[in-house]
Amino acid sequence: MTHTPAIETAALGKSFGAVRVLGDITLTVPAGGVFALLGPNGSGKTTLVRVLSTLTRPDAGTARVLGHDVVSERRALRARISLTGQYAALDELQTGTENLAMMGRLRGLGRTAARRRADELLERFDLTGAARRRVLTYSGGMRRRLDIAASLVTPPDLLFLDEPTTGLDPRSRHTMWDMVTDLTRAGVTVFLTTQYLEEADRLADRIALLDGGRVAAEGTADQLKARVSTGRLDLVLDGPAAFADALRALGDRAVHIDSEHATLGVTTTGGAAEIRALLDELDPDRTAVRAFTVRPTTLDDVFFALTGRAQEATRV
Ligand SMILES: Nc1ncnc2c1ncn2[C@@H]1O[C@H](COP(=O)(O)OP(=O)(O)OP(=O)(O)O)[C@@H](O)[C@H]1O
Ligand SMILES: [Mg+2]
Repeated sequence: MTHTPAIETAALGKSFGAVRVLGDITLTVPAGGVFALLGPNGSGKTTLVRVLSTLTRPDAGTARVLGHDVVSERRALRARISLTGQYAALDELQTGTENLAMMGRLRGLGRTAARRRADELLERFDLTGAARRRVLTYSGGMRRRLDIAASLVTPPDLLFLDEPTTGLDPRSRHTMWDMVTDLTRAGVTVFLTTQYLEEADRLADRIALLDGGRVAAEGTADQLKARVSTGRLDLVLDGPAAFADALRALGDRAVHIDSEHATLGVTTTGGAAEIRALLDELDPDRTAVRAFTVRPTTLDDVFFALTGRAQEATRV
């Protein structure tokens, strides 16, 4: 038995005028679980989501989603996917119930079924208390939840979530993460975009790093971290003299030099034997090194290593 991948693209591209926004995207997203498209502002995340969800036509390459070509089989595909965009698509003047019921009617449910489904979703997304209030009185987190509920009125096989947690406080963010996990347990494949490395690390089975409209790297969080291969050992020396001695001894091995805090960083696999040997070498009398810390590789390091830039958006 073969499993059709949820998404398969080959040399997919999209330009707006002379600007190439997506270039040569070749990507396979397995069915089931969470796939995260991670990238900074303007890297092309929304554009790729719009192409894959049939809202924007690609102008190069091909994309099949759930086995359907995004251009020639657009209609069949649309019936099987849902999209929650980066900006909420809700009617502010209607209540939560009315918004969901309307969506149900648009999706072909009868009046009673649409109303029943709306109540069910409001309950599930913890919005029953606000069901009869107009959306314009909702907080950002409530809107986000209602917006996602709206994309689940008829259950999709594949759900696109474009930056589902941007602008949410930590608690709402955790609620959103739990919801995504619940959806995957129910068999929905989730394709989400995010600027947050932590979010991709937490939620995603696989991650693609998008940079300037190109996939800079793709794999599991662990695979991506392994490409950077090492963590860093930071040594705090006991004063300027000890710092100068250690710096001399390390030579090129020092990858981080901070004289103000008498701290030196060297790459390490984090193994105890390796760290012990290094401490013995630099500090045979056990007086020069005051403290040390080992930083495991983070997706930040991966992003930096693969794009040559720090990913500012992680510091939230
Ligand atoms: N309809 C359009 N016409 C012209 N340029 C566009 C259009 N849509 C997107 N772009 C450009 O394409 C690039 C990628 O935009 P996109 O919205 O896909 O990025 P993003 O990764 O979703 O960014 P963000 O994190 O800010 O949401 C940007 O430079 C943007 O200005
Ligand atoms: Mg976007």
